[in-house]
Amino acid sequence: MVTGASSGIGAATAVACAQAGMDVVLNGRRADRLEAVAAQIRSLGRCTEAVAGDVTDAGMSTRLLDAAEGRFGRFDVVFANAGYGFKKPEHELTTAELRAIFEVNFFASFELLRGAARRLIARQRRGHLLMCSSALAKFTIPNFAAYSATKAAQNHFCRAMRMELRPQGIEVASVHPINTTTEFIDRAIAYHGQVPTAETRSRTLPRWLVQRPETVANAVVRCLRRPRPEVWTSSTTRFALGLMTMFPRLMDFFGRRA
Ligand SMILES: NC(=O)c1ccc[n+]([C@@H]2O[C@H](COP(=O)([O-])OP(=O)(O)OC[C@H]3O[C@@H](n4cnc5c(N)ncnc54)[C@H](OP(=O)(O)O)[C@@H]3O)[C@@H](O)[C@H]2O)c1
Repeated sequence: MVTGASSGIGAATAVACAQAGMDVVLNGRRADRLEAVAAQIRSLGRCTEAVAGDVTDAGMSTRLLDAAEGRFGRFDVVFANAGYGFKKPEHELTTAELRAIFEVNFFASFELLRGAARRLIARQRRGHLLMCSSALAKFTIPNFAAYSATKAAQNHFCRAMRMELRPQGIEVASVHPINTTTEFIDRAIAYHGQVPTAETRSRTLPRWLVQRPETVANAVVRCLRRPRPEVWTSSTTRFALGLMTMFPRLMDFFGRRA
């Protein structure tokens, strides 16, 4: 099961899972985009079920898990991936905005994985649960504290759940992409009522800091085959973040430039 499967990392992961031989339950709000991903999956000879809706709707996690069990009799892997970000100085942030981003990125992911874990435990079944966190779980940059905080919360919950659930045969992992070419940035720009343009898109980072959604998708599938606590797609970034955690002033220096 993949939430946020109508575009970007979620769509690429759903297709990569189908290529790896899995049937996939898809979620996202845009039904037409989900149908396009579902058609790709069917063309690979796999079955799929699209459940359109907002992950923050009451009962959505139950609806998704019921859909998987109803159609396929079981689920083995759940990837809580739906999320968004925006850029805003912290002193301008409203509490409503902060709550809203936590609802989608953190609470909805948590509720889905908690519901999945309970069912897997009750059915004495092995499984693999993942959240799409971010490299920004480990540090933050100016104007991104709200987003980073949701991603750090996902990271901590996944680490603790992994330690708790591994003895029961349930793997848990957090995924930490770096900048990925998806709709994410366009949405972040649109969040402020601006229209994404070629110019806003062209403020690119060095190429080694940018990756395609398929890179993340393939790393997720590798993790399903060989479980690990955290999925990283850039060893350079991971090493640099380790150093910055030890030296907070270094983090400030690079954060301001980012
Ligand atoms: N792109 C990056 O640079 C980057 C880096 C690190 C981590 N990430 C994380 O990767 C994940 C996927 O983002 P992406 O980069 O693939 O961006 P994206 O192309 O914008 O995809 C976001 C997905 O989440 C879905 N979504 C958003 N809000 C939702 C809601 N309330 N209910 C249901 N679905 C919702 C969207 O579908 P609908 O609009 O159809 O609902 C879409 O399928 C996010 O958690 C993001 O934080 C991205």
